[in-house]
Amino acid sequence: MDKDLLVKTANAMVAKGKGILAADESSGTIKKRFDAIGVASTEDSRRDYREMMFRTQAAMKNNISGVILYDETIWQKAKDGTPLTKLIADAGSLPGIKVDKGVKPLFGCPGEVITEGLDGLGERLVEYRALGARFAKWRAVIDIVPGSPPVPSHTAVHTNAHALARYAAICQEHDIVPIVEPEVLMDGGHDIDTCLRVTEWVLKTTFQELFYQRVMLEGIVLKPNMVISGKKAPSRAGHQEVAEKTVRVLKECVPPAVAGIAFLSGGQSDEEATIHLDLMNRMGPLPWPVTFSYGRALQHMPQKVWAGKAENVAAAQRAFAHRSHMNGLAAQGQWKQDLEKAA
Ligand code: 13P
Repeated sequence: MDKDLLVKTANAMVAKGKGILAADESSGTIKKRFDAIGVASTEDSRRDYREMMFRTQAAMKNNISGVILYDETIWQKAKDGTPLTKLIADAGSLPGIKVDKGVKPLFGCPGEVITEGLDGLGERLVEYRALGARFAKWRAVIDIVPGSPPVPSHTAVHTNAHALARYAAICQEHDIVPIVEPEVLMDGGHDIDTCLRVTEWVLKTTFQELFYQRVMLEGIVLKPNMVISGKKAPSRAGHQEVAEKTVRVLKECVPPAVAGIAFLSGGQSDEEATIHLDLMNRMGPLPWPVTFSYGRALQHMPQKVWAGKAENVAAAQRAFAHRSHMNGLAAQGQWKQDLEKAA
């Protein structure tokens, strides 16, 4: 394990004014996104779409520190034959790779899931590293469902934390920075304080497992959910409350040694995800850099503008550059509403 390299990579991923583009949708998920814009999901259309983003110089050079790729994409070449990983690296950004194999039902825990993919992970990392990957991602999924017994269960929280920590240790052994992503979903009708309690439990458990499995915290990036009301909650907490409660929980659970925090957007609207990030950074100084690792909240608009048509590429790139710039400002607490209107 090359400790200096891991620390250097992790710090670069959360560099000032920069964040991570999560472009690692599985083939099933990207199909859903393409269905919404009326585009057939093929190997070529997926390549064209992602190539459009990776060639957006303004975004990639200024605001995107790294890109999380899906297995298919890390092997793909741009239309002119350049490997997509080279487009990313040439723009000064780091290629990364999703290495989990998705979720499976968790035995004995109805409605709950466990993330799989530990088998053969070391061998796959060697291959991905040779293709240019410098960091990896593993997503654990925790749902909130009231009931008797309530979800999440102790079993789901612990089993997922154990797998996340095992993944992180294997990544570091291979000089790959692990993005540790324990996502508490915002899909339910729960209130913000329920999200707060579950997020605190999940983060405390995750860091305990990281400690037991000797993961070097300076060489990881944490990718948490924000503390937020469920999407179906009858009344949802306001922006300031989300920012304050998220920062409070993170301060209680995340050691300052962690290289940085890069949030997932989880189903928030583009602007909501930016506002929350901005408000948190305005509460600084914080113990760690706090930035974004958004999928939907970065791609929603460029995807819509692109709509699968070559003639829309320039406009889609402008939309992607704009969203990346807004989030880059939010990562420094410098975002302003009128900049959205001006665009
Ligand atoms: P969203 O920002 O769309 O939640 O995606 C981030 C991600 O990588 C989830 O694993």
